[in-house]
Amino acid sequence: MEKTAIILSTLFLTASALSGCSIDSGNTDRIKTEDSSLESTSELKWWQKINAYEIYVNSFQDSDGDGYGDLNGIRSRLDHLADLGVGAIWLTPVYDSPMEDNGYDVADYYSINTRYGTMEDMDALIREADKKGIKVVMDLVFNHTSDRSEWFKRSSESRDNEYSDWYIWRDPKADGSEPNNWRSIFGGSAWTWNENRKQYYLHTFASSQPDLNWENPKVRDALYDVANFWLDKGAGGFRMDAIPYIKKPSDFSDGPADDSEGRCDIHMMTANTDGILDFLREFKEKVCAGKDIFTVGEANGVSPDDLKYWVGENGVFDMIFEFSHMNLDFEGSETWCKAGSFELSDLKKALTESQIATASNGWYPIYFENHDKPRSIDHFFPEGSDPVLAGKALGTVLLSLRGTPFIYQGEELGLTNVSWDSIDDYNDLNSKSQYNIAIKEGFSEEEALSFVHRFSRDNARTPMQWDSSINSGFTTGTPWLPLNENYKEVNAENENKDTSSVLSWYRRLSDFRKGNDILLKGEYNELLNENKDIYAFERKDTSGRLVILVNFSNKDAGFDPAEAGVTDNEKKILFSSYGDNEGEKAGSIKSLRPLEAVIIGE
Ligand code: NOJ
Ligand code: MG
Repeated sequence: MEKTAIILSTLFLTASALSGCSIDSGNTDRIKTEDSSLESTSELKWWQKINAYEIYVNSFQDSDGDGYGDLNGIRSRLDHLADLGVGAIWLTPVYDSPMEDNGYDVADYYSINTRYGTMEDMDALIREADKKGIKVVMDLVFNHTSDRSEWFKRSSESRDNEYSDWYIWRDPKADGSEPNNWRSIFGGSAWTWNENRKQYYLHTFASSQPDLNWENPKVRDALYDVANFWLDKGAGGFRMDAIPYIKKPSDFSDGPADDSEGRCDIHMMTANTDGILDFLREFKEKVCAGKDIFTVGEANGVSPDDLKYWVGENGVFDMIFEFSHMNLDFEGSETWCKAGSFELSDLKKALTESQIATASNGWYPIYFENHDKPRSIDHFFPEGSDPVLAGKALGTVLLSLRGTPFIYQGEELGLTNVSWDSIDDYNDLNSKSQYNIAIKEGFSEEEALSFVHRFSRDNARTPMQWDSSINSGFTTGTPWLPLNENYKEVNAENENKDTSSVLSWYRRLSDFRKGNDILLKGEYNELLNENKDIYAFERKDTSGRLVILVNFSNKDAGFDPAEAGVTDNEKKILFSSYGDNEGEKAGSIKSLRPLEAVIIGE
């Protein structure tokens, strides 16, 4: 989020990457990007050969009719995942929680949210998934807890008990106001008053999400215990939530005001503070060392010079989710009413930089959707684009770049955004606060709602669309969030039967990728980089070369086949999203149809 877009647009050029936690984490792949020869001296690790899949648990599959997705529901859908080449499922937080931020407010890291099932259900999921070659990856929300956690309750009771120093407490300023002018990421002051202690506590996100005090070794040990508990249960790794914020600067002074209330973005003041890596190195040593798992940090705003400490051979994680390609419509902070638009050239640049940065010494988590972003079809393509072609177009990029693809639930079906009539129809707390920010900034209600339509996190949180029956097979009860109205047409059952569907396309490409060394390990080079409509790149190794061409525009887009290196009549169109010219000689193709994606090879 936030300033990531600015910083990360250059970071990957100089960075090197790879491996925090795997046992054989040393980098032994050597790739010469200039001369097309690749020497691979190591096998890839398990998590480099799979597709990962993010499950937004509330919305994946309900098994007990309460309208919320749950663990047994996930277990009943493992075949859908196995068929997609999924080898790891990242579950959004399933711990006990009051659910003000849908699980990102943890009350107890050791128990399962009753909405989602029991610990036995969790064990069964881990066991059954394992049998299908799928590891369960837990979401560690370690920057903050819920204000309903026992730790916080104890901490707020008094200034001198065992837990007093587990959160970040400060006295008011002399006039009784907040200790400083930091604005939380969800809007409003980052400080909330506590009457018992007569002090304020800090929260990077909502006031119900108080930040833990990582300076306290007891807090850190308690968190490492949590992580080890889940590894003992058989988890295959971790996604680490909101990691840049765990370390705070020693100076808690005011920052430069950037809004009408005189506040300043907390991200600018606290993200990636010096010393954060000491904490994370300790995490790696006490939790990950010697275990065949992977970690992926939600770690935005890392500076170019520092990336090697984060994900390189000496880094703390195996991969980091960065946002350089996701936040191109934002300048500075991620305030929805201040968003602009972006050009395909910016997307191409961001992706190429990430590919280059992780070419010789790293690994990239490829993603275009998650539970915090709108659906990619509405994000990356012109308004009115055919959703099936657009879904296949982006799926082609997702499944043919170098790295581990992270498919977000429903992306494989080509799901799209929703537009509800009133802000009251939305569940996401960030949608509500962004709406209020827009109103304060002087936008009309209609305009404020249009920002919500475009960016709401609920766009990606509507229930999965499994079939055409009532509530799409997601629940027999009342769904916690309405389904997208298009579910009668756009759903897994229909797409299973339709060889030209987005789902069939994902399956075909996943099958192809699985056994294909060029796609798994080969080098990446961007092609046609001046072309305004087409994103093109090659993947190659000593055994061969694939050319991937994707038209992001709604019109025919010409290109020079010689420049793309596809005049060679030995080469064929292996995949075409229009499906009518597969098998034809590559030399026959000189332009792409609207939103067309093709893969050319031998
Ligand atoms: C990032 C998560 O992805 C998001 O959903 C959540 O609201 C914040 N971190 C706070 O935990
Ligand atoms: Mg349920």
